[in-house]
Amino acid sequence: MKALILAGGTGSRLRPITHSIAKQLIPVANKPVIEFGIEAILETGISDFGIIVGDARSEIESHLGDGSKWGASFTYIPQSAPLGLAHAVKTARPYLRDEKFIMYLGDNLIKGGVKELVDDFRKGQCDASILLTKAPNPEQFGVAELQGDRVVRLEEKPKNPKSDLALVGVYLFTPIVFDAIETLQPSFRGEYEITDAIQTLINWNKRVRYEIVTGWWKDTGTVQAMLEANRLILQTMSHKQSGTITNSRIQGEVSIGTGSHLINSVVIGPAIIGQNCKIENCTIGPFAAVGSECRITGIEASDSIVMNGCELRGHGLHLTSSLLGRNVSLQAEGAPKRTMNLVLGDNSSLTVS
Ligand code: DAU
Repeated sequence: MKALILAGGTGSRLRPITHSIAKQLIPVANKPVIEFGIEAILETGISDFGIIVGDARSEIESHLGDGSKWGASFTYIPQSAPLGLAHAVKTARPYLRDEKFIMYLGDNLIKGGVKELVDDFRKGQCDASILLTKAPNPEQFGVAELQGDRVVRLEEKPKNPKSDLALVGVYLFTPIVFDAIETLQPSFRGEYEITDAIQTLINWNKRVRYEIVTGWWKDTGTVQAMLEANRLILQTMSHKQSGTITNSRIQGEVSIGTGSHLINSVVIGPAIIGQNCKIENCTIGPFAAVGSECRITGIEASDSIVMNGCELRGHGLHLTSSLLGRNVSLQAEGAPKRTMNLVLGDNSSLTVS
């Protein structure tokens, strides 16, 4: 079997961050989202990956490389335009050829991995297999209607969902899906929907199996979802501390990278601080992920993602529910104490008075 990871698209719901970084490379607990998917697939024994890329091709390719770092082989497949998930699969047809494959949306995170699902699909006789999960906001996803143990209807982003079962971004297919894709017309949002291709398989009485995800699942397509994923991963990952700690306190599960220095600070877990950071007079956490090479002074940061190379200075400025891109410069010294929710793109410079 092969894997197809989708890392094209526009990331429009994560602007301004995605003006300069592909959404699949945004770090959750200091690891790019897409790497969680790669690792989940590697556990299944699959090592041939096709990676669909769009405008961010060079960034994704230079970050992930040829796959040798993971003992795998990565083939980059440029998609001419983000015309939908089914269009991406069609684009990958020459790579996938006549093999069964797992398709994994590069912005999805699933606890518990996909090994069992892939093992069952390998052994079984199904034409397609989908994952579903109960969602409080099903209208934002593909939605499935079940009858007994069968999927009878799938609808992409329905205004009036027939159930609360959302399609998770992991799908297993046999090559028959290519025939279904050939019959598609663009949807209301102008995309060739994989949801419609699976519905076509159902209409053709093909065997479409489903499984309900019991652990958590996150589509990290929005800032809030990204922060929620950050909280979930920080809570479940194993933590490790290096670095130097001077006159500081660490409480709970905390990771600190090599070369980082904590001075007169408190870190409340779960939290992670990358490498070569200098953190002085700060309270970091809970649920904060600070990247590498950051200089942070006099800041409280909780429930936030701060990417590499940020310089933040303040006197008791409390950042929460915030997502700061790479190399953000924030100057709040002398400003009154306040709490802020910020979403700032790479290289932003902000003075708070
Ligand atoms: O996350 C689960 C949902 O993913 C499902 O419930 C929906 O049924 C499914 O259509 C999809 O919906 P989204 O609107 O969230 O998909 P999004 O546009 O965010 O794209 C998902 C991933 O695929 C993302 O990593 C970008 C990539 N992509 C997207 C498009 C439209 C491509 O590589 N090429 C594309 O043309």
